[in-house]
Amino acid sequence: MTDGRPSELAREAARTLAELTGVPRHEIAITLGSGWRSAAELIGDVVADIPAAEVPGFTPSGVAGHSGRLRSIRLADGKHVLVIGARTHLYEGKGVAAVVHGVRTAAAAGATTLILTNGAGGLNPAWTPGEPVLIRDHINLTATSPIVGAEFVDLTDLYSPRLRELVGSIRPGIDEGVYVQLPGPHYETPAEIAMVRAIGGDIVGMSTALEAIAARQCGLEVLAISLITNLAAGIQNAPLSHQEVLEAGASAEGRLGPLLAEIVNTVGAA
Ligand code: 6GU
Repeated sequence: MTDGRPSELAREAARTLAELTGVPRHEIAITLGSGWRSAAELIGDVVADIPAAEVPGFTPSGVAGHSGRLRSIRLADGKHVLVIGARTHLYEGKGVAAVVHGVRTAAAAGATTLILTNGAGGLNPAWTPGEPVLIRDHINLTATSPIVGAEFVDLTDLYSPRLRELVGSIRPGIDEGVYVQLPGPHYETPAEIAMVRAIGGDIVGMSTALEAIAARQCGLEVLAISLITNLAAGIQNAPLSHQEVLEAGASAEGRLGPLLAEIVNTVGAA
């Protein structure tokens, strides 16, 4: 896979998407993480629902909780949203370009706003599993970057203060935190969580930061929201399990769907 902004492969994917959906431009893109899947139907009219594998550069996700589908949704005001239910994680070993291919495709499809969602561990014991938390900033502990070559992209205010404020007006009191992307696929150790806390992290997960970096490189305005599915290792006493993450997601889905739908429609109308 070549790199670039957006890459030739992303342009090809955007052309295929336009053909398969009949929608020439998607103004907003959303990546759905664990627990956020049911949101899509509530956002607007599903115009097209495509297996990701039919679009160049997308591969079916091997991870439970990820749908492997791309959907085109029409909002009430006529704008179109690209819903990416096919996230590639760094730990799948397909390379960083594969991880950010969805983001670059969204940019090539005409998106100016990207909403990233994920399921993540929380360090704040006041958070309850099932609670959504806005990402205010990130720390990238993957030791890699989607940007190749000497391009020195500014990441100040990467997570749009304007969009965070807008969500705060929809859901007053929604908490914010610093997201730390770990490589995974194993969960963190309690000692690593002590380190994460010491360096200023509040949320841990295995996605999002690399995608947000690529989004900034493409000029997209980024909003990111974590569903806290568990308290991180050493903070909760029980061992961590993917099953628990899926269950917290399933029980929260009924509340997250309407929240995300309201956010997207407000962003779309703004
Ligand atoms: Cl890296 N840690 C925890 N505790 N929960 C997670 C996660 C990490 N990624 C997704 N959920």
